[in-house]
Amino acid sequence: MHGGSSPDATRTQVEKRTRNNGSERSQAMGSLLHCLAFLFLFASSVCGSNICTSHGVTTCQQCLVVHSSCAWCSQEEFGLGKSSLSRCDLKENLNKEGCSAAAIEFPSSTFKILKDNPLSDKASDGADVTQIRPQKLHMTLRLGDAMRFKVSVKQVEDYPVDLYYLMDLSNSMEDDLFRLQTLGNKLAETMGKTTSNLQMGFGAFVDKTVSPYMYTYPPEAVLNPCFRSANPCQPQFSFKNVLSLTEKVSRFTEEVVKQKVSKNRDGPEGGFDAIMQAIVCKEKIGWRPDASHLLLLTTDATSHFALDGRIAGIVQPNDGECYLDTDNNYKKSTVLDYPSLGLITEKMSENNINLIFAVTRHVVPIYQNYSQLIPGTTVGMLSDDSGNVIQLIQEAYAKIRSKVELELLGVPDELNLSFNATCFDGKVIHGLKSCSGLKIGDTVSFSVEAQLRSCPKEKSRTFTIKPLGFKDSLEVIVDFACSCNCEAKAVPDSPVCSNGNGTYECGVCQCHKGRLGPRCECSLEEYSPSDDTNCISKPDSPVCSGRGDCLCGQCSCRSTGFGQVWGKYCECDNFNCLRFKGALCSDHGKCNCGFCQCDAGWKGENCNCTTRTDTCVSSLGLLCSGRGNCECGVCQCTQPGAYGDTCEKCPTCPDSCTIKKQCVECQHFKRGQYISDNSCNRICKNEIKIVDKLSKKMDENSEFQEGKAVNCSYKDENDCIVHFQYSEDTIGKSVLYVVKEPECPQGPDILVVLLSVAGAILLLGLVGLLIWKLLVTIYDRREFAKFEEERAKAKWDTGNNPLYKGATSTFTNVAYRGN
Ligand SMILES: *[C@@H]1O[C@H](CO)[C@@H](O)[C@H](O)[C@H]1NC(C)=O
Ligand SMILES: *[C@@H]1O[C@H](CO)[C@@H](O)[C@H](O)[C@H]1NC(C)=O
Ligand SMILES: *[C@@H]1O[C@H](CO)[C@@H](O)[C@H](O)[C@H]1NC(C)=O
Ligand SMILES: *[C@@H]1O[C@H](CO)[C@@H](O)[C@H](O)[C@H]1NC(C)=O
Ligand SMILES: *[C@@H]1O[C@H](CO)[C@@H](O)[C@H](O)[C@H]1NC(C)=O
Ligand SMILES: *[C@@H]1O[C@H](CO)[C@@H](O)[C@H](O)[C@H]1NC(C)=O
Repeated sequence: MHGGSSPDATRTQVEKRTRNNGSERSQAMGSLLHCLAFLFLFASSVCGSNICTSHGVTTCQQCLVVHSSCAWCSQEEFGLGKSSLSRCDLKENLNKEGCSAAAIEFPSSTFKILKDNPLSDKASDGADVTQIRPQKLHMTLRLGDAMRFKVSVKQVEDYPVDLYYLMDLSNSMEDDLFRLQTLGNKLAETMGKTTSNLQMGFGAFVDKTVSPYMYTYPPEAVLNPCFRSANPCQPQFSFKNVLSLTEKVSRFTEEVVKQKVSKNRDGPEGGFDAIMQAIVCKEKIGWRPDASHLLLLTTDATSHFALDGRIAGIVQPNDGECYLDTDNNYKKSTVLDYPSLGLITEKMSENNINLIFAVTRHVVPIYQNYSQLIPGTTVGMLSDDSGNVIQLIQEAYAKIRSKVELELLGVPDELNLSFNATCFDGKVIHGLKSCSGLKIGDTVSFSVEAQLRSCPKEKSRTFTIKPLGFKDSLEVIVDFACSCNCEAKAVPDSPVCSNGNGTYECGVCQCHKGRLGPRCECSLEEYSPSDDTNCISKPDSPVCSGRGDCLCGQCSCRSTGFGQVWGKYCECDNFNCLRFKGALCSDHGKCNCGFCQCDAGWKGENCNCTTRTDTCVSSLGLLCSGRGNCECGVCQCTQPGAYGDTCEKCPTCPDSCTIKKQCVECQHFKRGQYISDNSCNRICKNEIKIVDKLSKKMDENSEFQEGKAVNCSYKDENDCIVHFQYSEDTIGKSVLYVVKEPECPQGPDILVVLLSVAGAILLLGLVGLLIWKLLVTIYDRREFAKFEEERAKAKWDTGNNPLYKGATSTFTNVAYRGN
């Protein structure tokens, strides 16, 4: 056991290894036969599993969820007797395996535009104005699939405007009211310049008419809250719709002039109560459906909001309904709490209201914070006497009209929507669903992508994409293709499933509890241990490979915490594959029943080997500088002394001709050093081509690049000169073009050699003899000359031989003793 890996994982690993070792051959044979059978029977070129078949799914619905390419065959007799066939497979495989087209469940994602009226240019009376295109579409989405569509939005010219002026009439606003009385006509005139179709209305508010917001003591304070000062004022009220929206804008000033301020007790006012009523009382206020709705709130104080009602004992939450009585007064102000910001946001969006807070300097930061919480609002700073309100409205309106922001209503959680905006000049802004800085008449477009991430319970949903503050919207109907049509035709307690022991659905039986088998033929109670033999792949191996239970002769595999387990004997899984640096299949492939299926661009049994070779190309353009092989994107330098990423460094290396010479020797001539030390196959991975003679570009079809071919020649052991050309193609495969006939020197003539050798020997002998003769002659001559000289010098008679000596003899008597 190795430390680190969990005992369980190691056990299965070991198990798998022994299985592999023990029966590698029989397994290989088995799968080969299996494959061949497939080939012959079904002419299928796909042997082995794919993403659809490898997950062991048992129902149509599960199959659709595996991957968007998976289809289900619901034909009853499909795969009868061939347990290896999976009903969940790629559509073309099901076709090949004989599933009729009608029985294949393969919902695909579709997209259809249902309503696509063109965008309007200008708002003209009577005609329907269209500011968004398309208006309605339908799509069917399969899990994981994405659909993309385009939405265009246009701010049409001269769009009608409804402006409702909501004014705080608490005591401190007296000067503002006075100023507005003089500004009314100017306001109407200015707004009339932006649109020829203007309606104006007016409403006023103070606060809830209960203590502690209101003076209730002394009793006369109820009727005249300003009883302490000289000027009486009108009784406090909550919200009053003074003038409903009207085209007769002169009426605005008339009504404003009639207004008088009131007085309340605490600092904050009931502005949000008023806003809510102004938004939701569509009929009473008179908002037109086809118009920009501007709601202007002017105040110099903060506002009460939800839960503030508690100090007055009001606990009933605001329900966002309209409660204006016949006198146009808010009648539930003392019953309902103030609305929350969330409720206001929701109602504003529902009624396409653009809210403008025109507030005095010291409350601007507060309203700016509110504005961040309520999308589609703008904040302007009001001068103390509201003198700049016209300019403020104009600016706010321009701002509203210069921005298009898409709002999403009712998007199901399972759907992931993403946006790209094209605002000006076709420039795409990523991930944005709004455009600002537009001019009236500009068209902007948004690219929307909807992706189904998981399957919701319902079959269909409708959601809306709407530009904020516009009445126009795009309605999107989404059908979730998460279930199969055949499910509708399911037969409960079907006779097919062992006389009503299961539900027959989509070609398979979903057995009742306690029943098992493809046709629910087996009951758990009737279980007999002899069935276990069916669950054992070979004698002595554990039942269901130890990873499942044998139920009625079938393995029911247990999925583990690591992943899925499947197969007839639970022999397959998706977590027991080779790992590299801890990553299953090096994270570059899928584990399928013990083997890594590498992603494109990767190979090797653990997929850790890239098929890229560009990393091996040296600056000269040669793969590993011609001194090694590119393996898994890394150069393995074979030339002794070579190093560097592309074997480019090698102070002691011979040039590439010398290196390749050895390869030509061993690969072509089968001789040389690499043959003797058996390293030819390891070092030389060139393709050898035999040619008659070298040319500039050896192969017209190959993509050899200029400068990548080298002409070489060397003298072999027979003194012949071998010519070859070494070149590499673009993917780094090297080719050696070897000239068929080595150039050998002409052999010398034996006879000539013999003759010349013999001649030479003869000649040498003759010369030797001659010299010897010469030397002897010279010597003789010298001796003779000497003799002659001696003879000439002789001083005796020729009669006296100098050699003559007289014949006298002396003898000694040896016996004589002397004395
Ligand atoms: C507005 O919000 C910011 C941060 O959200 C906060 O720091 C600031 O005090 C708030 N201003 C007011 C006036 O509430
Ligand atoms: C939804 O889509 C966005 C953009 O394509 C992506 O960043 C995000 O991760 C997705 N969310 C989920 C949960 O898939
Ligand atoms: C947005 O643009 C990016 C990059 O061009 C693209 O990958 C993405 O799919 C686009 N999204 C949509 C919704 O069009
Ligand atoms: C289930 O199958 C058994 C054996 O085929 C049969 O006797 C029995 O009636 C079936 N049960 C039901 C509820 O139909
Ligand atoms: C790939 O994995 C094998 C086996 O673990 C290892 O010998 C080899 O060095 C790895 N190759 C690369 C390029 O990491
Ligand atoms: C190799 O030799 C051939 C034939 O002589 C010649 O055409 C070709 O240009 C030479 N190639 C190189 C790279 O020198």
